[in-house]
Amino acid sequence: MSFRLDQYSQPLLEAVLGSLREGIIVIDRQTEVVLYNQAAVDVFNLSPVMTGPLRLIDITRNKAIHDGFQQVLREGRPFDTNLEIFGIQERTFSFRATPLLMPSAHEVVGAIGVFFDVTQLVRLERVRREFFANLSHELRTPLTSILAYVETLLNGALYDQENNLQFLRIINKHAMRMQNLVRDIADLSAIEAGEFKLDPVTIELKGFVDNLAVLVAPEAAARQVTFRNEVTPGVYVQADPQALEQILMNLIINAVKFNRPGGEVVVTAGFEGDTRTIIAVRDTGVGIEAKHLPRIFERLYRVDKSRSQEVGGTGLGLAIVKHLVLNHGGDISVDSTPGVGSEFRIRLPRPPLPS
Ligand SMILES: Nc1ncnc2c1ncn2[C@@H]1O[C@H](COP(=O)(O)OP(=O)(O)O)[C@@H](O)[C@H]1O
Ligand SMILES: [Mg+2]
Repeated sequence: MSFRLDQYSQPLLEAVLGSLREGIIVIDRQTEVVLYNQAAVDVFNLSPVMTGPLRLIDITRNKAIHDGFQQVLREGRPFDTNLEIFGIQERTFSFRATPLLMPSAHEVVGAIGVFFDVTQLVRLERVRREFFANLSHELRTPLTSILAYVETLLNGALYDQENNLQFLRIINKHAMRMQNLVRDIADLSAIEAGEFKLDPVTIELKGFVDNLAVLVAPEAAARQVTFRNEVTPGVYVQADPQALEQILMNLIINAVKFNRPGGEVVVTAGFEGDTRTIIAVRDTGVGIEAKHLPRIFERLYRVDKSRSQEVGGTGLGLAIVKHLVLNHGGDISVDSTPGVGSEFRIRLPRPPLPS
């Protein structure tokens, strides 16, 4: 098959094909490659200097692709599938092949293959599915417990002076867990939907952390953990006060909760260059094994689920922290040694210097 394109159509065709993000491969009935674009070169890792007649088999040995093209040539109907292509990384593509019909001919003269990278979409879809599966589990567990204790009370335990108060306390604890979870989910989805409008102002950190110290005091005292505000006076940050409170409270409460009696939590802060402020929350707690570190910012991920629940955790705190920090244009990192302690560091914008 040969194309006869005039002097305008040829460069126009090349420009259009070259601008597409989708890989395009056009073959004729003998599976000889008639046309392909730059995106196809990237998808199949093709050498840019290939010359001479090129067949589909020279581009890929992927069976699904060959079968799809063949089916289109044979039956003249479109073909759709998702497939994995192993390049430098494994990627998922939506592959659609359609018959190539020419006005002059009455039969299928070839097939057009379009390769659209859906790796990210597929990944997000999986994360979303897992999140909802985990979430319903998280909600079901306390609910089952609440219903069981209510039933026990209704069946007579209400008058059992030995146990009735204890049962009510358990119900209360599980109900609070559900309340925390619902609150964190609402926060997280508001942040993700961009409904949490940040209004950054210049904040003096030493005083800000002193105010937080009052809020953590009861929890710290209950766990015999010492809280120290070692922020150097005169360190400022440009942040939304409400978001900053949520960020730091989450980090500090974690540092207190995952600590040991007699341990301590220290907050420090300093400037990094002219544009950044770093705040660190360090603890002497249980630490986090390296293999868990990349995952602790994921929604609902907890290293030790029973310990987290026992201290009222939902597994959403760090996901919220991460989002809020990123929304400020900042970043978060963590260093941890199991049995020794952890240090979470956030970098946020420094207030503009007076010029
Ligand atoms: N300071 C810390 N020391 C040790 N482990 C921590 C610390 N902060 C967070 N983690 C781990 O990361 C997990 C996720 O934290 P987070 O999202 O705040 O959830 P939660 O506190 O509700 O369990 C925790 O369950 C815990 O395993
Ligand atoms: Mg937490």
